[in-house]
Amino acid sequence: MRQAGRYLPEYRRLRARAEGFLDFCYTPALAVEATLQPIRRYAFDAAIIFSDILVVPHALGQKVWFEEGQGPRLEALGGAEDLTRLRTHGLAAALAPVYQALADARAALPAETALIGFAGAPWTLATYMLEGGSSREFAAARHWIGARPAAFAQLVEILVEAVAEHLIRQAEAGAEALQIFDSWAGALNDGSLEGDSLRRWSLEPIAEIARRVRAARPDVPLIVFPRGVGEGYRAFAEAGLAAALSLDSAVPLDWAERRLHQYVTLQGNLDPRVLAAGGVAMTEACSGILAAWGGGPFVFNLGHGILPQTPLEHVGDVLELVRGSGA
Ligand code: CP3
Repeated sequence: MRQAGRYLPEYRRLRARAEGFLDFCYTPALAVEATLQPIRRYAFDAAIIFSDILVVPHALGQKVWFEEGQGPRLEALGGAEDLTRLRTHGLAAALAPVYQALADARAALPAETALIGFAGAPWTLATYMLEGGSSREFAAARHWIGARPAAFAQLVEILVEAVAEHLIRQAEAGAEALQIFDSWAGALNDGSLEGDSLRRWSLEPIAEIARRVRAARPDVPLIVFPRGVGEGYRAFAEAGLAAALSLDSAVPLDWAERRLHQYVTLQGNLDPRVLAAGGVAMTEACSGILAAWGGGPFVFNLGHGILPQTPLEHVGDVLELVRGSGA
């Protein structure tokens, strides 16, 4: 999950050594170190490569930068004519440092620790590319869908191509599982857009990416995270597009067990705020997840990114609980 490093003092020290956040991502020695830090401290079962979903828009030629305390910023695409300026052929060269970091991280990790590569889903990437940063309302993306549907479809097509290539190259470089983050998929399923927008702009593009990745690397499992889609998770589970579905913290445990678990491995979904708070609420939340899902194929995880203020001991406590559960 994004910002995973920021709860670690060793990450904050490392971060201070890099110029900008993207330089950090593109310097393999630093990216590998950031990838290994949580494994050294906690010996998790899997490491996620240190990178960001916004390296794909950057590799397509869009201006991307990170401002302290403000999150990501992009020079927003203004209209259909800007699509022709995206560089759709230089992806592998532009992202070579990410692949190098994956190869080096794989070599440095213990053999039993899995290495996960990742990318943003087309819809989530499109929101950043059109809004120019994080958004709550997605006004620009909604405008494109309503007023320029052909141009929006073309942007999504460009992103399907780029994301599929980026994921396949990560597998070639050493990633043993791949996760697709559709962090803003919930906005497609809140009744504010017409038709089956969730299917058209999230599920179908992800399904096409999954087909391409599976054709190239049938051995590498795909994890899909359509965050915030509520009942919409059913369509993702039934579509059979991924080995695992990552669930956000709002998904009820018993509902997921009854409606999703027969189709797919579940991943999730401890609320990061509960982890940060600790105490009995945290212990009970963990036990609830383990009791509900631990009988089937299941990956214990958070429902979204870890909060920077999370006390280190809480992470250790949860790990002990999960390892001791026998699930
Ligand atoms: O967890 C990890 O450290 C693994 C690497 C990773 C990062 N970003 C590093 C990062 C991963 C898997 C991501 C995914 C990501 N990035 C997503 C999808 C997951 C999600 O959170 O929904 C999204 C939407 C982004 C875009 C992004 N990158 C945002 C919105 C931000 C700002 C976050 C904030 O609150 O400031 C980032 C920055 C970012 N990406 C950081 C890290 C460690 C923090 C940068 C820093 O160290 O200052």
